[in-house]
Amino acid sequence: MTEPAIKSAAAVKIEIRGVTLAYGSFVVLRDIQARIRGGEVFVIMGGSGCGKSTLLRAMIGLGQPASGDILYEGVPYWASEPEARQRLLRSFGVLFQSGALWSSMTLAENIGLVLGEFTDLTPADIRDVARLKLSLVGLRGFEDHYPSEISGGMARRAGLARALALDPDTLFLDEPSAGLDPLTARNLDELILELRDSLGATFVVVTHELASIFTIADHCLFLDGTTRTMRAQGPPRELLRTTEDPVVHAFLTRGEGNRGPAAPAATGGNLLAI
Ligand SMILES: Nc1ncnc2c1ncn2[C@@H]1O[C@H](COP(=O)(O)OP(=O)(O)OP(=O)(O)O)[C@@H](O)[C@H]1O
Ligand SMILES: [Mg+2]
Repeated sequence: MTEPAIKSAAAVKIEIRGVTLAYGSFVVLRDIQARIRGGEVFVIMGGSGCGKSTLLRAMIGLGQPASGDILYEGVPYWASEPEARQRLLRSFGVLFQSGALWSSMTLAENIGLVLGEFTDLTPADIRDVARLKLSLVGLRGFEDHYPSEISGGMARRAGLARALALDPDTLFLDEPSAGLDPLTARNLDELILELRDSLGATFVVVTHELASIFTIADHCLFLDGTTRTMRAQGPPRELLRTTEDPVVHAFLTRGEGNRGPAAPAATGGNLLAI
């Protein structure tokens, strides 16, 4: 089993260092600390309203922490000059919680919009790249479809293709499987693992879906809305086995009855089933 050894030796890519997040005087989260290694899927989990999206937004430059910083390969994002921040943002791909595609544009045009804005590619090249990105998420042949002509799962994959448009090395996904049926959500999880393995990208994924957490997370961070801070972190199965915190244990077993955590997803799944 050489793979885990290689993984654990991967360099720290992102460090959340002593981060406190607030809206005005309302403190959402205090003293968040975490290290995310290159090429892993890092899950931010916790109940509704605990601050998952707020933390993700701080990581992608959309909300400055009240204190602390997010370091990318050792460079503190919020303490950097605007040009350096811009360079970092360029290496991110984001799928927002609302995840909306432009309804008046085809899937290829949705992806092309990002490429047109941030690259010097010709319209023909843009179309080729859009086709390539759509094929990466199993949507080959759907370039000219409008969002209203595809299923919710396909729209989520198209959103992922758009997030991949600029060849990001880090992807941030906020509740990618929210509102999808369990099978579709499962296929999306498999797609995330396939992309992690084929692109070598680092994923930061917000979710409170247990099945997803146990399927995709190499490492997870549990945020707690009651104490307004992090409560635990680690590989999910290890956390489940070792935690002595009843709140963390209850979160990781909730609703699963005797089934226990989902088995790890096999890669090479049926993408077109989403
Ligand atoms: N723009 C805002 N102004 C003030 N308070 C906000 C704002 N956005 C979020 N909040 C509050 O901050 C807290 C954390 O919100 P956030 O959206 O980060 O939670 P979440 O964990 O992502 O929830 P969910 O699982 O429902 O998406 C909540 O109490 C929310 O009401
Ligand atoms: Mg949220």
